[in-house]
Amino acid sequence: MTTMRIQVLLIIAVALLSLTVNANPRPQATKNFNQGWRFHLGDIPEAQRPDLDDSQWRLLNLPHDWSIEGAFDQKNPAGFGGGALPGGVGWYRKTFDATPVKGQSVFIDFDGVYRNSEVWLNGQYLGKRPYGYISFQYDLTPHLKAGKNIIAVKVDNSQQPNSRWYSGSGIYRNVWLTTTDRLFVDHWGTFITTPEVTTAQARISIKTRVRGMQSELASGERFDLRTLILDGNGKEVASVIAANNQTETQTELTQEAIVRGPNLWSTDNPYLYKAVSELRIQGKLIDRYETNFGIRYFSFDREKGFFLNGKALKINGVCNHHDLGALGAAINTRALERQLEMLKAMGANGIRTSHNPPAPELLDLADSMGFVVMDEAFDMWKKEKTKFDYHLDWDEWHKRDLEDLVLRDRNHPSVIIWSIGNEITEQWEGNPAAGIIGAELSSIVRSLDKTRPITAACNFVDPKNKLISDGGLDLVGTNYAHERIPQFPTLFPGRTIIGTETVSSLASRGTYDMPSDVIRRWPKKWDEPFKDGNADYSCSAYDNCSTPWGSTQEETWKIVKKADFFSGQFIWTGWDYLGEPTPYEWPARSSYFGIIDLAGFPKDTYYMYQSEWTTKPVLHIYPHWNWENGKDVDVWAYFNADEVELFLNGKSLGTKRKSGDELHVAWRIPFQPGLLKAVSRRNGKVELTEEIRTAEAPAKIVLSADRPIINGDGVDLSFVTVRIVDRNGTLIPNAEDLVKFDVSGEGFIAGVDNGSQISHEPFKASQRKAFHGQCLAIIQSKGSRGKITLKASASGLSPGTLVITAR
Ligand code: GAL
Repeated sequence: MTTMRIQVLLIIAVALLSLTVNANPRPQATKNFNQGWRFHLGDIPEAQRPDLDDSQWRLLNLPHDWSIEGAFDQKNPAGFGGGALPGGVGWYRKTFDATPVKGQSVFIDFDGVYRNSEVWLNGQYLGKRPYGYISFQYDLTPHLKAGKNIIAVKVDNSQQPNSRWYSGSGIYRNVWLTTTDRLFVDHWGTFITTPEVTTAQARISIKTRVRGMQSELASGERFDLRTLILDGNGKEVASVIAANNQTETQTELTQEAIVRGPNLWSTDNPYLYKAVSELRIQGKLIDRYETNFGIRYFSFDREKGFFLNGKALKINGVCNHHDLGALGAAINTRALERQLEMLKAMGANGIRTSHNPPAPELLDLADSMGFVVMDEAFDMWKKEKTKFDYHLDWDEWHKRDLEDLVLRDRNHPSVIIWSIGNEITEQWEGNPAAGIIGAELSSIVRSLDKTRPITAACNFVDPKNKLISDGGLDLVGTNYAHERIPQFPTLFPGRTIIGTETVSSLASRGTYDMPSDVIRRWPKKWDEPFKDGNADYSCSAYDNCSTPWGSTQEETWKIVKKADFFSGQFIWTGWDYLGEPTPYEWPARSSYFGIIDLAGFPKDTYYMYQSEWTTKPVLHIYPHWNWENGKDVDVWAYFNADEVELFLNGKSLGTKRKSGDELHVAWRIPFQPGLLKAVSRRNGKVELTEEIRTAEAPAKIVLSADRPIINGDGVDLSFVTVRIVDRNGTLIPNAEDLVKFDVSGEGFIAGVDNGSQISHEPFKASQRKAFHGQCLAIIQSKGSRGKITLKASASGLSPGTLVITAR
């Protein structure tokens, strides 16, 4: 084989390997049920009726978020805090053929529907789930007919505001259909723990709930449950059998297996095992259920913080909301994987699922990519945060929703903390309700899982907070209050502590307010519309802009880094998200908090973390080099070598080293056009060189794809970065050209974005203005193999063309 062919094959292998996530425990018996739904936006009375003619409704595949298809408008009831996109009522219907078999059961699983979903099969009501982030299942068996069946789902997101961020609307996560035999492993029916782990061996405890239809079993029939443990290569490393069980309606069986020389799961070595549960009646295999798990142990220490497998590990985590930018809330595994890849490359090792149960795929990715996860249940309890939020459903649903979260997620090795709530309103002023409800929730969690500590994200960081003192928390979760972090051990003696939410700094990619050493804290007051903002609704991306309750990125990290007892932090936020455009209001509509912008372009502070959290050589200098002649420009450098020397047009401006707890070095230079060059050195040897040039006139469009080869499965994505550059390839820092896209072949545009927090251009479009020289086109495969050609053009620029291959 030629070297070239080997290289091509390697690229294909890497491209295809990148999506190894499989959330499906029954690859044979559970089918994806996303294809071919009919959708109608708006309410129709009795649209569950089987005889309703839906032939004129829009045909689409799930996951689907209708809000992201809408237009930004400040009159939308979600408000700018909710992303200023429309809500409303939507109906989904799907017709499918079935052949009911006596003794078999058929279940439908919804990973998430936002919100107030109601489901009917053939006109029969199956139930309602108000909470938009919870996964749930219905048994279709009793109403299933031979031949044509109709499932109808009503989604009601009309009463708004019901969220402090963008929620999305619709069946925005995956849907599955499962057929089981007479006896089967129950929904979320396994619970795998590793009560003893040493380097020599691990004891694996496996609890399996078996469910069956007793009436279908012959008298005297017995079943065996055999559980195989497979290693990461699929090789059997242990197996246990519970033989000769009497069938009952529901039975929980406990088994134990030993794995010798276990390969321990960690953030650096996310090694997964698989437990395969096989149920047999009289020797015949009737169910096979797979559970991924990891072997690892961890603890929190009140003096030394977090330990994973006996080694201290600072949790360098981020909070994220669930939206995927231009794709809205509609889950796409590749889009989520890209978010995590960029965070991993920054050195992050933790994710907080703020402030709700995540898509199951997030936890699969965290398991396989190596992130620890704080899995959070709620943003509010009984007391509201917005008028129509979950507080209205609290009394009836909180127990069920919390139980379902724990049952669904408790096998993931990535999950190391349960959070029962974020900044719950009850926690203030010593209100005893915080302790009472907190204790109730903690005991619900503990009844299903005792292997992980429970926390809550408290912004009343005070011993008088009854949630902290009486709420049953194992781990004190503190939001913000970074200056008081050193006092926490005295404030909460004997307790283990983690920064459940920190920072809330603000930045727009590509905007630089000078002088860079003046820090702005915005907004000053909530009740006054913001007055002293920048005319273009930007926030400076020198790390010099933050909320008053938060800090710059550097301010908090300097403290967290030194506080050994502080297990780590979850920074608000890793990625920008739709909604909550603090410190601005409309026309702003998405957040400024992200270390990475909404389109997925890193802001500068990304490299500060990378220089601190990774061992790979980092050198990043900024800002761009197009300013007025003579203006004093601040140049910052993030690096992890010993020193950096800066040159302007060949002349040295001096060598700098970080002193004390500094996280960057800076120069103030009167601007002159040309070439700014930085050289970092380690042990006297040049390690990295970084150059920034003054851009000349805009000349062309350059395209680059994150993955040139994608799966031709109709789901996979390629993220194409569009850059407006001069004739030498230098980015035009303030280019705002309108870029028009033309796609031909086996793909289409799933969304466009540029990371601007105030753009009101639609995300579902074939054009986008550049923002600070860049925009993004997300190309999705159509479901067939072949070439996808993307052409990008703008007036006065030479166009860019790129070919992606769908395999
Ligand atoms: C926190 C809250 C987050 C977000 C953040 C913005 O108080 O938990 O959801 O609103 O503030 O700074």
